[in-house]
Amino acid sequence: MSRPNKVVVLNGPNLNLLGTREPEIYGSDTLEMIAERCRQLGDRAGIEVRFLQSNDEGKIVDWIQEAINTTSALVINAAAYTHTSVAIHDALRAYPGFKVELHISNSHLRESFRHVSYVAPAVDAVVAGLGARGYEHVIDLLADWFAQGKL
Ligand code: DQA
Repeated sequence: MSRPNKVVVLNGPNLNLLGTREPEIYGSDTLEMIAERCRQLGDRAGIEVRFLQSNDEGKIVDWIQEAINTTSALVINAAAYTHTSVAIHDALRAYPGFKVELHISNSHLRESFRHVSYVAPAVDAVVAGLGARGYEHVIDLLADWFAQGKL
């Protein structure tokens, strides 16, 4: 059975403020601008890219669970929950598709409390420090893999 041609991109707390939140760290693109570019890349490759954001940890856990049978790949910027959430770690371990942890900044160059990730040991790949463009690079790669039947 072929995998669903859907990718979900989950975004955690305060990422709804992109564009105005600490632009020297996160840049000036809004989350909607990033989402639109990723959806367009997906459209060209015949993949549906669903972009979601919540400040609520439980909602992110629910979305990971919903993605289990409906998507082939999952990209997550868990934002601050990266550094605290065992619940998101556990939900990700239950997700069978390809999963990517993504951060706009390189958190290892920042405060020490950002050096620990509960997400990293539960995913296949980690992308950090490429700015907002990191999202597009990941979607582009996933689209290629989908076209090649690798996803
Ligand atoms: C972030 C890094 C996290 O440490 C921070 O809490 C965020 C954004 C990033 O994308 O660089 O909210 O995940």
